[in-house]
Amino acid sequence: MKSFSTKLVWFDGKFVKSEEAKVPVMTHAIHYGTSVFEGLRGYWNSKNLNIFRLDDHIKRFRNSGKIYSINLRFTNKEISNAIIQLCKRNSVRRSCYIRPFYFVGEYGINLNVTEKAPTHTAIVMFEFGDLFNKNGIKAGISSWRRIHEISTPPLAKMGGNYLNSILATQEAKRNGYDESILLDHLGNVSEAPGENIFILRNGEIITPPSSSSALEGITRESVIEIVRNQGYKIIEREILRTELYLADEIFLTGTAAEITPVTFVDGKKIGNGIPGKLTKQIRSTYSDIVMGKNKKYAHWLTAVY
Ligand SMILES: Cc1ncc(COP(=O)(O)O)c(C=O)c1O
Repeated sequence: MKSFSTKLVWFDGKFVKSEEAKVPVMTHAIHYGTSVFEGLRGYWNSKNLNIFRLDDHIKRFRNSGKIYSINLRFTNKEISNAIIQLCKRNSVRRSCYIRPFYFVGEYGINLNVTEKAPTHTAIVMFEFGDLFNKNGIKAGISSWRRIHEISTPPLAKMGGNYLNSILATQEAKRNGYDESILLDHLGNVSEAPGENIFILRNGEIITPPSSSSALEGITRESVIEIVRNQGYKIIEREILRTELYLADEIFLTGTAAEITPVTFVDGKKIGNGIPGKLTKQIRSTYSDIVMGKNKKYAHWLTAVY
């Protein structure tokens, strides 16, 4: 099957051809990383295209900009309508990744970014399959530490924050790993470059709190709700690096990664070195939810058609 790339993008309130959405070279975001973005998935289940947790993504979208006084000049309703309309205008009937973003436009070399700074907002989308091998990946602990509240707030999903993720990813690939796991400034487990992390150890499901420099992931929050509803106890606490080596199961969560089992860390086998029972169960529940097969979580989906 050929992958699609859409003809139309949404740019400052208009649907335009992708090649016509251009920005000047003095765009502030190019020089200083002053951009805010979100990543959502649309799931095609042969009847409809369902967008997962649309309103929650838009809420985080606005909040990220608030931290830096970067103004999103559209209401939440306007952004959600634009996303839905963009899918319709492009007649998308395949699963896709949707990327809304806004950024500071022409603002010279001024670092005093205020709500008055000009911003532009755009939405693009493209076909997207599995980011990782769902049968398990090999991860390595990065020598780079995760950005921290003391310097660059990790809760803001800003373009500039991903320089840290890029360094960690480059190092992981150089060392032959599929993905990196970053520690926070204190040496506790934080998250992966674009995913949150969960471990199962001695019957407890544990994930680092946001104070360990972890993004408030929407998939993370979904997994917490799913497993609590299934009767499991979930603990948000600091995780030591060595607890990763001793974990029975590890998995990553994210819009792009969905539920990805980690079967090796730093060359050490996790559990039996294959995806664990709990991870497989969560992966399967999550997949049913996004494909619209689980009525209990139908409120997490927004139908396009
Ligand atoms: C740094 C980082 N952590 C975690 C996540 C997972 O968040 P979500 O589940 O909302 O996609 C992402 C992806 O957005 C991310 O970029």
